Amino acid sequence: MLRSAVSQFLPRSSRVLPRALPSSSTARFLSTYEVEHPDPNPNPDKPPQPPYPVGVVAALEAAKDPSFRARPTIFRREFSLHDRVALVSGANRGLGLEMAMALLEAGARAVYCLDLPKQPGDEWNAVKDYIEKMDFGEGKKGGRLEYVSADVTDQKGLWAVGDMIGDKEKRFDIGIAAAGILKNHTNCLEYPSEQFKQVMDINTNGVLYTAQAAGRQMHRFNTPGSIILIASMSGSITNRDHAWVSYNTSKSAVLQMTRSMACELGPKGIRVNSLSPGHIYTSMTAAYLDTQPGLLRKWASMNPLGRIGRPDELRGVVTWLASDASTFCTGSDIIVSGGHHSW
Ligand SMILES: NC(=O)c1ccc[n+]([C@@H]2O[C@H](COP(=O)([O-])OP(=O)(O)OC[C@H]3O[C@@H](n4cnc5c(N)ncnc54)[C@H](O)[C@@H]3O)[C@@H](O)[C@H]2O)c1
Repeated sequence: MLRSAVSQFLPRSSRVLPRALPSSSTARFLSTYEVEHPDPNPNPDKPPQPPYPVGVVAALEAAKDPSFRARPTIFRREFSLHDRVALVSGANRGLGLEMAMALLEAGARAVYCLDLPKQPGDEWNAVKDYIEKMDFGEGKKGGRLEYVSADVTDQKGLWAVGDMIGDKEKRFDIGIAAAGILKNHTNCLEYPSEQFKQVMDINTNGVLYTAQAAGRQMHRFNTPGSIILIASMSGSITNRDHAWVSYNTSKSAVLQMTRSMACELGPKGIRVNSLSPGHIYTSMTAAYLDTQPGLLRKWASMNPLGRIGRPDELRGVVTWLASDASTFCTGSDIIVSGGHHSW
């Protein structure tokens, strides 16, 4: 039934075919496609259509068929992460945890939070409890918040985490690389090599290994997944009066990693984008803000909105990037900085 409903919206000559998926996956949007051939765009004259009508196409369909049920799809379908499986690094706290929670609220089946401590902290446990109590309507329960202790600098360890998730869930849709560190001000002419290497190892190499852990599983399950690399506006601009050469360099590398991986993985249908926040109050920035009177006001004055951001202000953008609402977006850097970069 669904297969025939799907096929009527497929371009006839397209080699992009709907995948035979278990019924739990039938509600998915463009992700129910697999590309048979490495050519990413086998029919440039007619790109693949969603497996059910949306937007203006839906309106035109309804005009032809009076029995067509007019229902909004934007949040129920395009933005929905129904049944998706995700890995988020650095998600014991801070921006990673906020993003992990957003994925579950959008309907994800399981979100694996990877971080250094052997056991998750109080913040993480509070989010887990809250999600378990959350009412998803009509008696439905939310997905699972899982915790994995691992170090993002351990490439083979990260791949093993990916394998473990894939073996258990039999799918892998979203990978977010949010683990990162920021060191104290250090003069660039004296910057110690070991410290520079440490920052690069976590903020750049660790992002690659996390993206690999996710991408390898997406390839394994032939899933057109979404990989989101957390960079920073510091990858594109230099924070005035801050001697952060290692951090800024590591984040610039993530921007180019995004473009390179997007180009390599596009033919597999896997999207790779970076998300570059501006100043947001977390444990990372608290190390500066809580110890330097006046710094909050200074940072706030450096963008047109006149304030720093909140972690929850990344919920929308990360859900958009993770979901089928952004299926034509890859290789992009999305800057969420209150306009800091515009000045
Ligand atoms: N807070 C901001 O203003 C801001 C702005 C731009 C970018 N970012 C980026 O967002 C990401 C999250 O930062 P945050 O502000 O939530 O900081 P945070 O310090 O609260 O969180 C970072 C997390 O990464 C984990 N981590 C560090 N090294 C790790 C390793 N080797 N293996 C696994 N996990 C490790 C930490 O334990 C921590 O839980 C970072 O990549 C950061 O650079 C933050």
